[in-house]
Amino acid sequence: MSNFRKYFPIFKQNPKIVYLDSGASAQKPDCVLESMTKFYETTYANIHRGLYEFSEKSTELYDEVRGKVAKFIGAKDPSEIIFTKGTTDAINLLASSYSKLLKKNDEIIVSEIEHHSNLLPWKNLEDVVCAKVKYLPVLDDCELDYDWLEKNISPNVKLVCVSGQSNVLGVKNDIQRIIKIAHSVGAKVLVDGAQLTVHSKLDVSLLDVDFYAFSGHKIYGPTGVGILYGKKELLDVMPPYQLGGDMVESVSLDKVIFKQAPSKFEAGTPPITEVVGLGSAIDFLENIGMEKIEDYSLKLTQYLQSELLKISGVRILSSKKSNAIVSFVVDGVSSFDIGVMLGQKGVCVRVGKHCAEPLHNRFGVDSSIRASVGIYNDENDIDKFIDALKNVLSLLR
Ligand code: ALA
Repeated sequence: MSNFRKYFPIFKQNPKIVYLDSGASAQKPDCVLESMTKFYETTYANIHRGLYEFSEKSTELYDEVRGKVAKFIGAKDPSEIIFTKGTTDAINLLASSYSKLLKKNDEIIVSEIEHHSNLLPWKNLEDVVCAKVKYLPVLDDCELDYDWLEKNISPNVKLVCVSGQSNVLGVKNDIQRIIKIAHSVGAKVLVDGAQLTVHSKLDVSLLDVDFYAFSGHKIYGPTGVGILYGKKELLDVMPPYQLGGDMVESVSLDKVIFKQAPSKFEAGTPPITEVVGLGSAIDFLENIGMEKIEDYSLKLTQYLQSELLKISGVRILSSKKSNAIVSFVVDGVSSFDIGVMLGQKGVCVRVGKHCAEPLHNRFGVDSSIRASVGIYNDENDIDKFIDALKNVLSLLR
């Protein structure tokens, strides 16, 4: 059994469940749950508003996590960390703010493999500011076409938006190479780290990434909280996304002066308790060690792929380099039928287009089945999944 499974109460309640859907959302360890309950039970109050002990303590905890996140991803300063509702919210914040900085015919490059959350906010800017979106293709081996990027980069390109790791293919993209190409013409780079952050040691400063987004719920933390990292000098010139309380220096009926980042991007009461939970999730990951997590996840993914390939008719969309995520189809059998029947057997996978429809079109499949692993999974889970899949296929074909 995985050494880490014991930390996740959901498996004590449901010992037979085979959870292979961490790419959609990861389960929560007891330290995360306890930190949130304890916070509500002992200290909870709104932040930045009260002059009493609970509010001061809450503010302190909230700000402490900002520093923890900065350290976790290698940001130079906690003020470069904006708390959002999640990755989607973070990317929408960036796109909305950039809509005020871009002008007609400015270009944005988005890859063809993106989750809709890193595609639609950019595509929308075609309508909002008449920007042009160009699509970085993916090759048959699941690698992005970096030569295409070299050829198509120009001073007209203002932003390049790519995932650190595809939520369907599970392949890590060569972020370093993309950043180098983009920076050669002064374009900025957003990395969608939704799938990458949970098992990769990152250093946004070392990578020189301009913007980085990820969600708490995919790294064993709570839902409702995410991060947008941005270089300080870029955040300084970006206008706010939402307007409201706690983001202004002063307001009169004639004039508004916004606070500096990150406050100007955090209007209203933020997800305070979720931020506390996110801090515990980061502690949990760091106590295990990111290298150890990556190694564990990679080995398990390789085992999953090798067992899947033994089943006739299985076509894997992912590549040998995929980590944590393996998507596949079975010739002549509906992915949905397979998913429903696996679900009836207590095997949890995701079926469909995984909010990445252009990617499915590119690979000529209508939908796929995605198995994604977390640190609570082990070979035993994979064996149970494979047995269940074989059984389901024997009934369907
Ligand atoms: N973005 C999540 C996924 O890929 C929900 O399943």
